[in-house]
Amino acid sequence: RRASGLLVISVSDLCFSPTVNPCCYYPCQHQGICVRFDLDRYQCDCTRMGYSGPNCTIPELWTWLRTSLRPSPSFFHFQVTHGRWFWEFVNATFIRDMLMRLVLTGGVFQSYLRPPTHNMAHDCISWESFSNVSYYTRILPSVPQDCPTPIGTKGKKQLPDAEFLSRRFLLRRKFIPDPQGANLMFAFFAQHFTHQFFKTSGKMGPGFTKALGHGVDLSHVYGDNLEHQYHLRLFKDGKLKYQVLNGEMYPPSVEEAPMLMHYPRGVPSQTQMATGQQVFRLLPGLMLYATLWLREHNRVCDLLKAEHSTWGDEQLFQTARLILIGEDSEPATS
Ligand SMILES: *[C@@H]1O[C@H](CO)[C@@H](O)[C@H](O)[C@H]1NC(C)=O
Ligand SMILES: *[C@@H]1O[C@H](CO)[C@@H](O)[C@H](O)[C@H]1NC(C)=O
Ligand SMILES: *[C@@H]1O[C@H](CO)[C@@H](O)[C@H](O)[C@H]1NC(C)=O
Repeated sequence: RRASGLLVISVSDLCFSPTVNPCCYYPCQHQGICVRFDLDRYQCDCTRMGYSGPNCTIPELWTWLRTSLRPSPSFFHFQVTHGRWFWEFVNATFIRDMLMRLVLTGGVFQSYLRPPTHNMAHDCISWESFSNVSYYTRILPSVPQDCPTPIGTKGKKQLPDAEFLSRRFLLRRKFIPDPQGANLMFAFFAQHFTHQFFKTSGKMGPGFTKALGHGVDLSHVYGDNLEHQYHLRLFKDGKLKYQVLNGEMYPPSVEEAPMLMHYPRGVPSQTQMATGQQVFRLLPGLMLYATLWLREHNRVCDLLKAEHSTWGDEQLFQTARLILIGEDSEPATS
């Protein structure tokens, strides 16, 4: 990286305590990276962030134009939650495909979320953080080790108890309906969806993911490796294994599909169901979506086989998977 020619500011001139790591004050704006010099000086690296100046506060011309033209988040929110006729118009024209392509190919994500890659293990930017995709990326840098408080220089010396905080701020005592009329299934769809790429690696620890690469790959339906996939497949007509309970199709038991599923101790194996993601028994909504996708996969296999009588198991399975990947991406991005 080119160190964008910035002044090195002596923090002691700025009446901070000279013993405090200047990066603890988070002087660098706009995702500029704070680099420490000696004890009490710092430099902000804002290479290619669209800003310059000692604290990355001076916008470049294009940045200035973009930010002054870009609508505010509240305007954005209002737009996407109002004007049904407008969205129906978009949905009925070519604009829909254009927007979907923009979202899926990363045009939108790239211009709005381009974080410098920090991760759990590195306090400085590094090739390892950038290239080793088994780390979870983080958008904010970690707080330097030697700061006076857990969040830098502000706040209390000791963070409050996490359980206390979650009870205080997240525990609902009264039912509040969603203003858009979305129900719990919406939240479960999102959670089920993200479990295909947010897969914390049990072996490597909470800073690591097992999902390497493709994002929406439905590995939470088909297993994240070939061995799991083979356990889950029926090897007939492209279908996945299933069991019929009360006349309805459900995921197979772990006796039929011998995958390691994380159930609480004491749950007998006949009642444990095998799904592509091993932690889905955590919540009923996740099992519910696992069941829906299983049924959908087998339904699509029936349709494909009816149209392509010459296709074998492998081609039916692979084609159904591609179709389901498309089906899964669409509601998730629209
Ligand atoms: C940079 O940030 C420091 C710390 O917040 C502040 O004291 C200083 O005045 C800023 N410098 C400029 C040029 O804005
Ligand atoms: C959007 O269009 C698709 C297909 O053209 C249609 O099935 C769907 O119901 C539409 N969605 C809304 C919210 O109007
Ligand atoms: C990524 O980093 C972890 C932890 O240092 C290491 O175990 C793993 O092998 C690395 N992966 C690659 C592909 O280098």
